[in-house]
Order: sequence, then structure tokens, then C-alpha cells
Amino acid sequence: MNHISSFFNYIKESAEELYGLFRKNCRNGGEDRLKLNEDIIEKVINTPLPFTSNEYYNFVDKYLPSGADEDLYVDGSDSFREIATEYDDLKYLNYIKTYITNPILCDMGCGIGNILHFCNKMGYKTFGYEFNKSLSKIHKKVGVDVIYGDFFTTDLSKLKTCDVVFLYRPISSVASMNKLFKLIRSNTKDNVIIVYKYPHQMRITGFTTISLNEWDDDLIILFKK
Ligand SMILES: C[S@@+](CC[C@H](N)C(=O)[O-])C[C@H]1O[C@@H](n2cnc3c(N)ncnc32)[C@H](O)[C@@H]1O
Repeated sequence: MNHISSFFNYIKESAEELYGLFRKNCRNGGEDRLKLNEDIIEKVINTPLPFTSNEYYNFVDKYLPSGADEDLYVDGSDSFREIATEYDDLKYLNYIKTYITNPILCDMGCGIGNILHFCNKMGYKTFGYEFNKSLSKIHKKVGVDVIYGDFFTTDLSKLKTCDVVFLYRPISSVASMNKLFKLIRSNTKDNVIIVYKYPHQMRITGFTTISLNEWDDDLIILFKK
């Protein structure tokens, strides 16, 4: 049995085990981090999702407010607007899900609710945090569960219920992102898996980093140390 099939045949219920398996299948990614082997990345990318990329991008086109991709910042703040992540990123969430029984996912800064909606289709229970309350009409229409408010002033205790936390870097300031990760660290289970798109830095205090994408480092996974 090669290492990929043994990786996939292993029945796991905790991130600790998933982390152990990841480690076994990682190589040095430079800058004091690990990188998942290409053969596994290829397997993840080639595993079909229960919806097509057209369905995903049609949803994004339908609900994303106009101008969101030109005007990256929320007025008067260093927060990024509600842009939507790429279809292939959801494949990693689909893959991780197979290792967790009754998985619960939180999208921190869920924007229009694209991740929540499509992760529901994969079999996750989901909820998100979002400070742009004007998106609530879309969330109601789509049927996703969102807690409104700023991360730094909102009760984050529901994060304790999550197995997986997804973030597409919501704030440009490095100091604010580090502050946010401190909050995430103290409000989550020990074995939480964090999937982080466009990281503000590769190493984050209190976490181990594994790089995921084959070509670049725009997607990382973090495990609590
Ligand atoms: C880059 S978008 C990501 C959207 C979605 N998660 C995705 O990956 O497709 C970041 C989102 O975070 C929200 N956000 C930024 N700063 C925030 C804060 N301090 N509290 C709550 N939400 C915030 C923004 O309004 C925006 O919708």
C-alpha cells in the first residue's frame, strides 16, 4: 500500500491524527514550515466536489456586490471587502471533512456566505462571522447562519464548537491579524484545523504551518502547537 492510499484509508476523528498524517506526508517547505507532498495535493485537487465550478461562480456572480473586486477596502478601515475565494480552495475543505465525524465549520469574515453555502452541500454544519450587516438579506435568502459584528468586539464563544475554521485574510494590518489569531487560539478546541487563505505571514505564534497549494503559498493550514 503506498503512502497515499494508507493516508486515505486511515480512519481519523481528530485533527491531531490528521496532523500526524500530514506530517508524514510533508517535506520541508522552507522558512521553518512544512509543505504537503504534491501527490496528495494532486489527489485533493482531482477529487470532485458535489457541485461544479460553474455553480460556484454563478453563485458568486449573483450575490457579490458590484465593485467588490475593484474597491478592496471597506471605507475608513483596513478590512478587506466581501470578495470570494476560488473554487479549488473548497477542495481542501472537502478533503479535511472526510476525516471528521459531523464536522462543523466557521468562516471568519464570511462575506456573502459562499463558503458556508457550499460547505453545507459537502455535509458540514456551518456558521460565519461578518461585520457587514448589509449582507444579511443575502444570508437569509441563501439560508446561512451568520453572527454579525466586529471580531474584536463580538462574542466568539461559538468558535469552541468548530472543527474547522476558514479565513480569507479579512484585515490588511499584520498586527490586527496577529491579534485575531490570538483570539481564535483562545476560543477554539485544541484540535481545531484552520485553513487560511492569503496569510499575512507564514508563521503564526502558537500554531504549526503546513503549506497546501502546489504552486504558491496562498493557502496554508494551521494546527495549534
Ligand atoms: C476576503 S473576504 C472573504 C469572504 C469569504 N470568506 C471567502 O473566502 O470567500 C473577508 C470578509 O471579512 C469581513 N471582515 C473584515 N474585517 C472584519 C471584522 N473585523 N469583523 C468581521 N468581519 C470582517 C469582510 O466584510 C469580508 O466580507
